[in-house]
Parts: sequence; structure tokens; C-alpha cells
Amino acid sequence: MASTNLSQGQQDHTTLLNHLRYTDLAIDGQDFEELYRRFQTMSSFFTNDLERHFDLEERLLFPAALFKTDNLEVIRLVLSLQADHAVLQLQAAYLVRQAEKGWEDMDDGAVADFFLLLSSHVRKEASLLYPWLEERDEVIEHVVSRS
Ligand SMILES: [Fe+2]
Ligand SMILES: [Fe+2]
Repeated sequence: MASTNLSQGQQDHTTLLNHLRYTDLAIDGQDFEELYRRFQTMSSFFTNDLERHFDLEERLLFPAALFKTDNLEVIRLVLSLQADHAVLQLQAAYLVRQAEKGWEDMDDGAVADFFLLLSSHVRKEASLLYPWLEERDEVIEHVVSRS
């Protein structure tokens, strides 16, 4: 059901945002050890759940939004969110591989870039896209019909 899909996505965002508050602060303070710790704490989400979360959005939520709008701002938003996914997946896979080799050789810039993009991405979805979807019954119906 649509509401289940949306609320599953929202639950993932809540989990992520709980961590991203701290990664935002760590980036501001250039605290890379804290960023590595957060990456490690969240690594099971990155290896197991990120793909599922992106798949839910790419297969159901983004197409539903695109199908039901001719608002250029919404179309631009969805396309930019979709492009973020491709970058985030590459970054996460690279960092998971690096982490397996050990933290000594980790690339501070790569970890910071990943969390910066993830944070702005999730915040855009949570503040713009999901509320937009929730407000539109016809979009929700379309999602239901494809679930
Ligand atoms: Fe997303
Ligand atoms: Fe998301």
C-alpha cells in the first residue's frame, strides 16, 4: 500500500537523520574520526538497506511523482534526487571497500563528500518530496496501483 511505502521511506529517513545531525556537526568541525565512527555505526544500513531504500524511491515514488505532475520544479527535484542516488551508491560502495581495508588509509575528503551529499539529499526528500507526495491523493493512488 502507498502509505506503507511512504512510511517505510520515512522510517529510513528518520534513522538516517538521527545520524546525519552528528555527521553535519562533524563536517563543520572537521572531525574525521567522528565521521569514520558514524560510517562504521551505519555500515549495516549502507550495505543492507540503502539499496532497498533507493529501489523503493526509484521504482515507486519518483515515477509516481513524475507521472502525476507537469510542475517543472517538481520534475527537476525528482531528476536531481535520482542523479544523487547514482553518485551516493558509487560513493557508499567505495567507502565500504575502503573501510574493509582499514581506516588508516581512508580518504577524509571522500567520507565528508559522501555525508554532505547524503545529508542534503535526505533533507530535500524529507522536507520537499515526501510532503508533496503525501498531499496528493492521486499520486498516492498511482503508487498503490503499482505496489
Ligand atoms: Fe533518495
Ligand atoms: Fe530517501
